[in-house]
Amino acid sequence: MLKPDAVKRRLAGEVIGRFEKRGLKILAAKMMVINKELAETHYGEHAEKPFFKDLVDYITSGPVLATVIEGEECISMIRKMVGATNPQEADMGTIRGDYAIDTGRNIIHASDAPDSAKREISLFFDESEICEYVLPDEELIY
Ligand code: PPS
Repeated sequence: MLKPDAVKRRLAGEVIGRFEKRGLKILAAKMMVINKELAETHYGEHAEKPFFKDLVDYITSGPVLATVIEGEECISMIRKMVGATNPQEADMGTIRGDYAIDTGRNIIHASDAPDSAKREISLFFDESEICEYVLPDEELIY
């Protein structure tokens, strides 16, 4: 999910482009303003953290671009491309290391495991909104 700072700073295409160029496949993408209830459910595991209110306030502050992305070892690959949560600690060349400076406003949220990806996708998308298709060069990539 591209966070409000990515959308407001016109970085959505740039970030999605990195995933496409890496060989990953975009199965769904939806611009939306998340309501408080969805934000609190999505980030439920952090409900007791001191930053929870800031996190919910921030993620509901403007449009996000929710996406479903597929590929070999997709979760670990994307998290590597995203970089550390605190952009000050993120390596240069990662999305956060290149574009973000603040832990809250860190461009992107990426699911951290297959189970959480499944849960998060179901919060944001109906099954009918997820496109299954074959790219012309897919066999070359995999
Ligand atoms: S923890 O405590 O290690 O589990 O939390 P962490 O993985 O570092 O962060 C969880 C998500 O909360 C976001 N975060 C914040 N948002 C707003 N303000 C503050 N201060 C803040 N601190 C952490 C952080 O970016 C993580 O969001 P996602 O979307 O999962 O990357």
